Amino acid sequence: MCGVIGYVGSKSCARLIFDGLKRLEYRGYDSAGIAVLDHGKIELVKAEGKLVHLEPRLEELPLKATMGMGHTRWATHGAPTARNAHPHLHGDLVIIHNGIIENYRELKEQLMKSGVEFKSDTDTEVVLHQLHAELERTKDLKAAIMETVKHLRGAYALGIMYAREPGQMYVVKQGSPVVLGAGDGENFFGSDALALLPHTNRAVFLMDGEFARLKADSIEVWDFAGKSVRRDPAVLNWSASSADKQGYKHYMLKEIHEQPAVMSSILSRLVDLKENTFVDKETGIDALDLGRIKNVAIVACGTAHYAGQIGRYMIEEFTRLPANVELASEFRYRNPCIDASTLVIAVSQSGETADTLACVKHAVERGCQVMSICNVRFSSIPRASHAVLYMEAGPEVGVASTKAFTAMVLSFYVLSLAIGEKLKTVAARRLEKSFDSMRHLPALVDRAVNAAGVIEEIAHKLYEAQNMLFIGRGPSFPVATEGALKLKEISYIHAEGYAGGELKHGPIALVDRHMPVVSIAPRDNQYEKMISNIEEVRARQGRIIGVGDIEDERFRSICEHYIPCPQIGDDHLQSILSVIPLQLLAYYVADMRGTDVDQPRNLAKSVTVE
Ligand code: G6P
Repeated sequence: MCGVIGYVGSKSCARLIFDGLKRLEYRGYDSAGIAVLDHGKIELVKAEGKLVHLEPRLEELPLKATMGMGHTRWATHGAPTARNAHPHLHGDLVIIHNGIIENYRELKEQLMKSGVEFKSDTDTEVVLHQLHAELERTKDLKAAIMETVKHLRGAYALGIMYAREPGQMYVVKQGSPVVLGAGDGENFFGSDALALLPHTNRAVFLMDGEFARLKADSIEVWDFAGKSVRRDPAVLNWSASSADKQGYKHYMLKEIHEQPAVMSSILSRLVDLKENTFVDKETGIDALDLGRIKNVAIVACGTAHYAGQIGRYMIEEFTRLPANVELASEFRYRNPCIDASTLVIAVSQSGETADTLACVKHAVERGCQVMSICNVRFSSIPRASHAVLYMEAGPEVGVASTKAFTAMVLSFYVLSLAIGEKLKTVAARRLEKSFDSMRHLPALVDRAVNAAGVIEEIAHKLYEAQNMLFIGRGPSFPVATEGALKLKEISYIHAEGYAGGELKHGPIALVDRHMPVVSIAPRDNQYEKMISNIEEVRARQGRIIGVGDIEDERFRSICEHYIPCPQIGDDHLQSILSVIPLQLLAYYVADMRGTDVDQPRNLAKSVTVE
């Protein structure tokens, strides 16, 4: 994962690079470092841990330096120590790297045989020495880069500076994300466009197998064979302020509160709620051959995978196509039954998750139609897909995904109805009812978000728990698993989500008077069964925390704590409303436990390694 950033221009750059790293810190925060090039000399600072530890050392860098690059690390090879922190320097050459060099062991052995001494345990240092050796031979950095990449296997976004070639830096891309930013008299690179937004909204997207040379007044791009590539900048429509906390204590809380607006904006783009029609160009279905589809495979990781599980219920109900949901990391490495009749739907907030991207490429090779549901425009997954539905939920900075989850669920809802309408598998009355529900959704999401006060009080009673279970049936089952994931990832409380009916097949053995069981029971067609499952827990003295209808006195009466949740009368859309209390519960519990809510330990927002 890791975040990389670089600048070449006329401004003092150390602070600028540091501020860019702060915007990328969600990508990893095990260690950080910055290198600048000033008067033909490379100066370097590094620190273990989060960026706050690097900040006091910025003054060691020359103020006058106007080119440099920085790195924030999520450790893969080598412990998260200062010694393994990037940038890595050898002689006049310095590099930063995001990705994994898979053949680093064999390269390291060869280099060691030729007398190279390694200063770190990273795979990255291998690239540095290989490049150095090629540079000795070719005496030309561009040529040396082209030789070096021939030896590398794996994924890499590299930033390279060479003290003997001041005023320019190289950026190399293979499999890991990196974006170039075009400014006036200054140019940038970064792991994502967010880091560049305060400076420019003009982005140049490198493709895999390409590298670029950045000077203050030019960006040149070549493929690995040295053929020049023309790439015009794309204009990004996110503003820098949309990535600020705007007065909220954490990004996560801000992003939870943004959900009503996100729902409105998705609906206004994908659906015409006056005419009750879908906007095919925005849903992406105009790029699909619907007649060819016989089955659907949904692939995703983490929260996106849970959204995909809800998506599967919708696809099956509205399109009557058999649908499977799979973890991208598993799907890729078995021999899935997919072919030209399969629609693969890849779901990803970042559009960069390595496993999901690998599935997309694999599915394209197998002749499937591939559609992606993504948030970040121009990212790798949509670029590799045949059709895209952009959620446009705005930047999500908190590592724990919130608004992207509900945006994914709503996107699936619209997409499956739109396909169902075309395939004539959804009845007109059902469609009409769905449009009606969509009209009410943003206001109900707003009400759900505004129940924060009640949830904060309940969090006070629960924050010392050591374990928690989450249960639900139907679409509320993936909601339960997502609720458990939210809690464990930011509060470090052990939590698991189960289907209500599955509890008695094992997990109920965990239930005693200490076990909080968050039970999601909206008024859907499984309500009665769910209440029975909750009674089973109650009979074993489990502590029931209910999430249900505001007016459901029966459910409320069997709960230790009750979170009233607005009901929309549509089982699928209800999952959007039911998950919001769980996001807030996880948030307040974690905040009370004093964890780092936006940057939980060991995690990274964008997982660009397999
Ligand atoms: C990481 C993040 C999760 C996210 C998952 C998939 O693990 O911490 O929050 O759900 O990646 O990310 P994607 O960008 O593909 O949705």
